[in-house]
This record gives sequence, C-alpha cells and structure tokens, in this order.
Amino acid sequence: MMRTHTCGDLRIGDAGRRVALCGWVDTVRDHGGLVFIDLRDRYGITQVVYDPRDSQSAWEQAQRARPEYVVRVEGVVEPRPADMVNPNLATGAIEVRGSAIQLLNRSRTPPFPLDDAGAARVAEDLRLTHRHLDLRRPRMQANLAQRHAIVMAARRYFDRLGFLEIETPILTKSTPEGARDYLVPSRVNPGMFYALPQAPQQYKQLLMMAGMDRYMQIARCFRDEDLRADRQPEFTQIDIEMSFIEPEDIYTLVDGLLADVCRAAGRPEPPSPIPRMPYAEAMSRYGSDKPDLRFGLAITDLTDIFRGSSFKLFAQAVERGHVVKAINATGLAEVPLRVTDEWTELAKQSGFGGLAHIRVQPDGSWKSPIVKFLSEGEKAELASRLDIRAGDLVLFAADEADKVHPFLGRLRLMCGELAGALAGDAMAFVWITEFPLFERGEDNRLQAMHHPFTAPHPEDLDRLDSDPLSVRALAYDIVLNGVELGGGSIRIHDPELQQRMFRRLGLPDEEIADRFGHLIQALGYGAPPHGGIALGLDRLVMLMVGAASIRDVIAFPKTQKAVDLMMNAPSRVDPRQLREVHIRTLVEE
Ligand code: AMO
Ligand code: AMP
Repeated sequence: MMRTHTCGDLRIGDAGRRVALCGWVDTVRDHGGLVFIDLRDRYGITQVVYDPRDSQSAWEQAQRARPEYVVRVEGVVEPRPADMVNPNLATGAIEVRGSAIQLLNRSRTPPFPLDDAGAARVAEDLRLTHRHLDLRRPRMQANLAQRHAIVMAARRYFDRLGFLEIETPILTKSTPEGARDYLVPSRVNPGMFYALPQAPQQYKQLLMMAGMDRYMQIARCFRDEDLRADRQPEFTQIDIEMSFIEPEDIYTLVDGLLADVCRAAGRPEPPSPIPRMPYAEAMSRYGSDKPDLRFGLAITDLTDIFRGSSFKLFAQAVERGHVVKAINATGLAEVPLRVTDEWTELAKQSGFGGLAHIRVQPDGSWKSPIVKFLSEGEKAELASRLDIRAGDLVLFAADEADKVHPFLGRLRLMCGELAGALAGDAMAFVWITEFPLFERGEDNRLQAMHHPFTAPHPEDLDRLDSDPLSVRALAYDIVLNGVELGGGSIRIHDPELQQRMFRRLGLPDEEIADRFGHLIQALGYGAPPHGGIALGLDRLVMLMVGAASIRDVIAFPKTQKAVDLMMNAPSRVDPRQLREVHIRTLVEE
C-alpha cells in the first residue's frame, strides 16, 4: 500500500507512529529554514514539516513542491507545539515530521484557486470547464459525500420496508411530464426515434400491474426545458410507487423517509407528521402552491370590509366580483420609498392600477394615500383583522383572485427576504394536497396539472365534464422552504376512466391508441389501485447542504444553455455517423 493513513486520520494518540501519506500539495510555506506542506485529500489536511537537519535531500525536494503536485510523504507523527495547535482542523493537534517526499506527479498552475473563497470569485463557467479541479474543493467534496449519505439512507429505508429497486429503460417512448423530450434516433429502424424518459412514470405503474407491489428507483430523468437554478436537463428522482394505498400512505412513507434523510444529513428532523395544507388554502393564504413557511405574513381577505366602502376603487372592485386582499409586512414600515416604488411598478406590470399601502408610524398613526377614503369603522376592522401595529407596512391588491394571489405571494416572499426570514437554516416542510386535476394551458386548452394518469378526487368525479376546472385530484406535492421537492398522485386504475381522461384532454382516439394503447390494455387485465410520488434528489440535497444551486450538488452538471463545458457536449458528429442513423441536419457548418 502506498499510504498507511489518509490526510484526515491522524490524531494526538498517533504521536510517535511512522506513517506514509499520499495526496495533493495544498500549500507550501518556507519559515525560517523549515518547509511546511499542507497535504490534502478527500478526508482532510495534514501538516508535514521538513527540517534540513533531519534530511537535507527531503528538505530540498519539499522546497520544490508546488500546489496541486501529487506526493507521497513519509515521517513520524509528532504533537504540535502548544501555540501551534489548530482547533479548526481535525488533524490540528499533530504534524508529521517528514523524512522523505516522493513526487508522484506534477501539476500546472490551476486556472483558478482551489479554495472555496477563491473559487467563489471566479466565473462559474471557468469552474465547470475544469470541473475535475473544482471538485477538489472541500465544499464540493462535502456536498458529494452528503449526496451519497442521503442516497444510502433512502435505499436503506426502502429496503427495510420491503421495496424493490427496479431499473427501467432509458431508451423508451415519450411520456408526458410537461417538458420536451430528448430524442435518440434508431439506426436499425430508419426514421424512428426513442425518447429518453422524462420520468419512469408509465413503467412504474406497469410494475404495479405486474404485481411488484412496492417499487423504488434512484432514477435518472431527462427533460428538455428552460433551465433555472433548481432545474437541470438531466436530474435524478427518488421514484416511488405502491399498490393498494391511499394518499395517507404516501404521506406517512415520505415523512419517514425525510426523517431518515435529515438524520443522515445532520439536519433537524421534520415534525411528525409533516403539516398538510390543501392547494386552495395555499393559494389564497400564501399565493403559491409551494409556500415558504419559514415565516408568516399570510394573505388576509378583506373583500367583505370593502363591499360598499367609501373607498370607491375597492368598492367597485368588489362589485365586479374581484377580491381585496392584503399582507401585513410586520416591522417593515421603514423600507425606503425606492423599494415601495419598485413594488408599485411591479403591481402595474402585473396589471393592477397601483399598490395601495399603509405605513404605520412609530406613534401608531397611518401614513397612506388611501387612509383619507376609509371610515373609522373600516379602519378599526382592518386594524383588528390584520393585527396592525406601530412599525408595520400593509400592502393591498384588488383584482381577480387568480391575479391577486400570485402577486401578493411574490410580495410576501420579497418582504420575508427583507425581514431576514430567509437567512439561517430553518427548514419548513409542508404537504400541499388536493391539487386541481386540470389547468388551462397556454392555448387555453385543458391540460393535466400533474399528469394524465392522476386520479380525480372521487367526491368531484361528477363534475369531470360539466366543470372540469373545479375537479380536485388525488395529487400532492411535498414542499420545503418554498421549493417543490416532490410530487405524486393516486393513479387511475380503471381503463374506461383513463380513456375518458385522455379524451377530456382533447386527444383523438387514434393518438390515445398510439401513445397509450399499451397502458390502457394493461389496465384492462386486473390493475391494482396504486399511486406514488417522485422526489427531486438534486433539490433535496441542495436544500440539505444549503447550496444555492443544484449544480453545486451534481458532479458534472450542465450550464443554463444545457452545455457540459468540460466534455464539450453537445457537439457536432461525423457526417458518416449521421448517415448511419438516417439523419440530415438543417444547420450548415
Ligand atoms: P414531477 O414532474 O413533479 O413528477 O417531478 C418530481 C420532482 O422531480 C424534480 N424535478 C427536477 N429536478 C431538477 N431538474 C428538473 N428539470 C426537474 N424536474 C422535476 C422536482 C419535482 O418535484 N412522474 C411524476 C411523479 C409521480 O407522479 O409519481 C413526476 O415526475 O423536485
Ligand atoms: P387612485 O385613487 O387611483 O390614486 O388609487 C389610490 C391608491 O390605490 C393608490 O395608492 C394606488 O396605487 C392604489 N391602487 C390602485 N389600483 C389598485 C389595485 N388594483 N390594488 C391595490 N391598490 C391599488
């Protein structure tokens, strides 16, 4: 073996031991004739000191070492002098008195500093181009280790509960999850294409129909969509499906999983059970289907107060069937005019006439362009319903509920951030339940809010044709700190209902047969009631380690333009290769 220990192993109890360590030179320092090398590997950093009186040749060699050289050192473990002990380093009580140093490989000067602070100052593209170097940073190594710990905790959890991990195909057929497909041409079937899975959705349902009962998979998914900080074109799901269950079983299962994951990641466990909130409440009180519950600032309905009010603007809104709602940004009365002006601009861009607000002065008096329109009774009612106190800032929006909710939801987040509620490492989990079955797509057509395999709420089934937008689904999301961690549903297991659902979504029968014939067929041979969920592993790890982007918890991520800068993918291919797969491109060299 080349080494006796790693660079993170040695402690005071090892004093006197002869050791050999291998690793990367983190720093070389020359102090009054002594050469100090900080040697680094995945496990830590160990200080090695070379004294010319011990070995002149080793000392000379040590002097020639440069950062990122790969070396093997030999020496004896010694306690550090008391004033040199470094309490911030696991190995900080000792150093290795070097007797030999062997150069295993040289390194050119890295294109950016490999410490976390230095790397933070360079463009991310440079780091991604040299990702193998970027991953040498302690922060990145810790992130990938945490990711491993979380995956292991998940696998152990599911194994304990009798789940089977089953792999599903990567070369497959298009399945709707709301994004574009990545396509792969078939050489042996000219003109035909596979699609990479956006999710193993249909396969996992087919596994339930096959009697597998409890399935899980750490599954790679591919979606060609516009990227953001929490989205990648390929990402990983903790994918789950179970037979003979109700939503309650999924909540219990995932509550337990998240408790294990938090424990593995060294984070406080979520409350048991994790709180639940119906979609309608999340929208009306937080203006979002992924509310950040690290802070309050809930949206309050004031519509009834302004019915017939002397404040004509709001009274007329109520007459038109609009709502009047507000948030009380407690303690934010002092936000600069510049900020409220920006918000007013935002209100106008969102289609509101403006942004009525009240700043409550230290003496409790209200400073506001609307206060002169309000009666004493209205003021008293507002004060009590919004719990208005000195130092508060109240922000109003009047319009259709569907416009007011998301707008106040955005304002709420900005106020939360201003109030410092997003700092710190609090974790607020919440289940959002009873999602609508349908939503209106861009072209105003009905589309499935989750996916077309999701079961309607049995209480709403009679409105499937008469009032589809009011139909709730047996669908749920798990949300953490305002991020959608996962989503799932109970599935349709009746072939007729599934066919009806596809028709309701406007699919012609030929297309239903072509795209989903296999599924409807399979449902006709004794499909068990079943359901499941998928959690975004990358997002989960991101939130557990407190990273700002999922790119920081993926070894080799892609840029916002879906490019792998290190491998230089995607790239052009040899025309012969294209001919083999029967493809001609429209893009000229
Ligand atoms: P859904 O589409 O909601 O459901 O995806 C589940 C979870 O996967 C994560 N996720 C992503 N993570 C990173 N980059 C992306 N581009 C990306 N897209 C999604 C999110 C999301 O909550 N088949 C269903 C699940 C089911 O019904 O069981 C599905 O895929 O964290
Ligand atoms: P006006 O009478 O038009 O000057 O409006 C009185 C106050 O109401 C101003 O502070 C406007 O910014 C605000 N305002 C106008 N339209 C809306 C609306 N739809 N929602 C909330 N505030 C509004």
